[in-house]
Amino acid sequence: MGRLEGKVAIITGAAGGIGSTAARRFVSEGANVLLVDREADALKRVTDELPSGQAAYFAGDVTDEAVTQAFVADATQRFGHVDVALLNAGIEGEVGRIEDASLAMFDRVMAVNVRSVWLGLAALIPVMRKAGGGSIVITSSVAGVKGSPKLAAYSTSKHAVVGMMKSAALECIPDHIRINAINPGQTRTRLMESIDEMMRVAGRTGDPAAAIPMGRYADPSEIVSLMLFLASDESSYCTGATYLVDGGRMS
Ligand SMILES: NC(=O)c1ccc[n+]([C@@H]2O[C@H](COP(=O)([O-])OP(=O)(O)OC[C@H]3O[C@@H](n4cnc5c(N)ncnc54)[C@H](O)[C@@H]3O)[C@@H](O)[C@H]2O)c1
Repeated sequence: MGRLEGKVAIITGAAGGIGSTAARRFVSEGANVLLVDREADALKRVTDELPSGQAAYFAGDVTDEAVTQAFVADATQRFGHVDVALLNAGIEGEVGRIEDASLAMFDRVMAVNVRSVWLGLAALIPVMRKAGGGSIVITSSVAGVKGSPKLAAYSTSKHAVVGMMKSAALECIPDHIRINAINPGQTRTRLMESIDEMMRVAGRTGDPAAAIPMGRYADPSEIVSLMLFLASDESSYCTGATYLVDGGRMS
């Protein structure tokens, strides 16, 4: 029996490195999954690999309130209920000092990484409350724990969702909705490649993995293992907390 047997999960950022890995793993653990992303073609490709009865996709921008309400309604309609959500869509913004960065970039990063999580919680909580509970996992970052020079917008956004998560978790204890955040370190995906390339152009030299005690980046599957634990009933006493998965980086 799978660890998510009978559960319905929504995953945002599901066309990306961590989200697509989570979708595959959650389906293999028995969940029905609605994959959400703004990259419609990539999203369809990921979904097409999965058993059609267990997976469907919804293409849209998670910063849009109507879109968010619509994908939560879509999952409920298709699969009957929503038990789990990974609010995982995110962007890195641009590398640079605060005084050189554009306000438009800051606003965009905050919209995708913070506003979308707010909208997701607002849409999911009433649905989960009505169904008797659920588990929501928000993807923060090690950049939500410590400062990230030249990535201040990203770091600000990843700290912000930790405050949101803690407040929402306390609000939702009577509803049996558990809400947690995970804080991955550097993980091999498009987003990390993009940050590394921008840092290289900005003058960084040397191997960025050298700063990680384990000496390597994570594979997305190592992040998803923690998401799976927090999504499943195995984490029944976990709420309002952050979980590092960072190869020792924050130690
Ligand atoms: N890769 C890392 O090293 C790392 C480390 C810590 C945290 N994270 C976080 O993990 C999450 C997943 O990132 P990833 O590494 O898989 O990167 P990724 O770029 O592969 O995936 C991110 C996905 O989010 C989607 N997305 C972005 N904006 C969207 C929007 N407005 N509406 C809908 N979808 C949107 C993208 O299309 C993409 O498919 C992000 O929140 C990221 O900040 C990543």
